[in-house]
Amino acid sequence: MLPILLIPTTYLLLTLLLPAPTTPTRAKTPLLALNFPDPCIIQDAATGQWYAFATGSWTHPPQTPNNNNNTTTTPTWKNIQAATAPSPNGKWTYLPDTDPLPSAGAWTAPGPGSQTWAPSVIHLGNNSSDYVLYYAAQLGDPPGSQFHCIGAAVSHTGVLGPYLPLAEPVVCPLDQGGAIDPSGFLDPVSGRRFFLYKVDGNALGEGGECNNGVGEGRRRRSVRQGGDGGEGVGLVGEGVEVLDRVGEVDGPLVEAPDLVYCKGYGYVLFYSNHCWDGPGYSVNYAVARNIEGPYERGKGGRLIGTGDAFNVTAPGGAASVPGGSGGGWMVLFHGDCPQGRCLFGAGMEVTGGMVVVS
Ligand SMILES: *[C@@H]1O[C@H](CO)[C@@H](O)[C@H](O)[C@H]1NC(C)=O
Ligand SMILES: *[C@@H]1O[C@H](CO)[C@@H](O)[C@H](O)[C@H]1NC(C)=O
Ligand SMILES: *[C@@H]1O[C@H](CO)[C@@H](O)[C@H](O)[C@H]1NC(C)=O
Ligand SMILES: *[C@@H]1O[C@H](CO)[C@@H](O)[C@H](O)[C@H]1NC(C)=O
Ligand SMILES: *[C@@H]1O[C@H](CO)[C@@H](O)[C@H](O)[C@H]1NC(C)=O
Repeated sequence: MLPILLIPTTYLLLTLLLPAPTTPTRAKTPLLALNFPDPCIIQDAATGQWYAFATGSWTHPPQTPNNNNNTTTTPTWKNIQAATAPSPNGKWTYLPDTDPLPSAGAWTAPGPGSQTWAPSVIHLGNNSSDYVLYYAAQLGDPPGSQFHCIGAAVSHTGVLGPYLPLAEPVVCPLDQGGAIDPSGFLDPVSGRRFFLYKVDGNALGEGGECNNGVGEGRRRRSVRQGGDGGEGVGLVGEGVEVLDRVGEVDGPLVEAPDLVYCKGYGYVLFYSNHCWDGPGYSVNYAVARNIEGPYERGKGGRLIGTGDAFNVTAPGGAASVPGGSGGGWMVLFHGDCPQGRCLFGAGMEVTGGMVVVS
């Protein structure tokens, strides 16, 4: 009897003494080790090159030291940051001299005060030179306003711009706290253009975590009315609410919408919840058969979160990258890093309304 008893006992002791747990095999390193929050991504129709855009920042020093082995550059403010890569998976190169949106528009606070956040770039019409860039920016009037609204800017000179802002914001529900996190979407089913954003109830300042306001994901339909002029970028109708926060699940907010169409299934809406500057921030999704919804939250809860096998703290602001029919789908997102919030990416598959990341 004795050996039989000893064997399991020994086994248990060994298990407890082993270094555990095993190293996560899916841990991510940044695609771009720079502060590059709230990314969006688009492929240049003319060249096939990929571009990512991010929230404004003081310019980063060049990634590689110059011949004198120094990286002393005078920091300048950029409303929007840009990077480029031959494929969504990399290798990403930061474009230190590029600000696609040199002016955020007369309605915004000047300079760094414009707080230009969360760009979204999509093609405008069929011409590979024409693009529209949506962005959130802080109102200039009154000075010191705590509200952001959403602007649109148009480029006829390629994906890097320069983009010229429309004179007025396209969405500005000040009584509800303004709006942030725009995201353009061309629906391949109807050929119509849509536009998603967050009603920024948090900016009403009700206190608590992230001001604990009521954040809502909403969508409006946007169309381009003929021609190729910036005047053609406008909104139609009042829009529909596609997602609202559920306090126990989402904490103070849902935000950062991003929509993708999956042939054979329908629409996948990515969003972030919990406070952006805390470890609860995470990437989530909801699915719908029809673009108007109803959107059903993905089974299994958050898709990417702090403490999972990706080893990224406070991941959020996801931007989907549709692949071909043979796969190659990706999701880009930001996560905490020594530089701020760096660019990360993961492979993605959508099967039967379930999103799986790897
Ligand atoms: C997880 O991330 C931390 C930094 O945030 C890093 O020090 C650590 O090496 C990472 N772990 C793995 C397994 O990559
Ligand atoms: C050049 O820069 C590298 C990286 O920062 C540093 O390790 C190295 O010591 C520098 N060399 C000189 C000569 O300053
Ligand atoms: C750093 O490099 C720049 C450009 O090459 C040069 O003008 C500057 O003098 C260098 N600074 C130092 C401290 O070496
Ligand atoms: C874009 O091209 C498609 C197919 O060639 C055409 O049906 C559509 O009307 C064009 N759209 C615009 C805005 O020119
Ligand atoms: C696209 O726009 C550019 C710049 O306005 C123009 O030169 C070019 O002819 C256009 N191409 C097409 C196919 O319409």
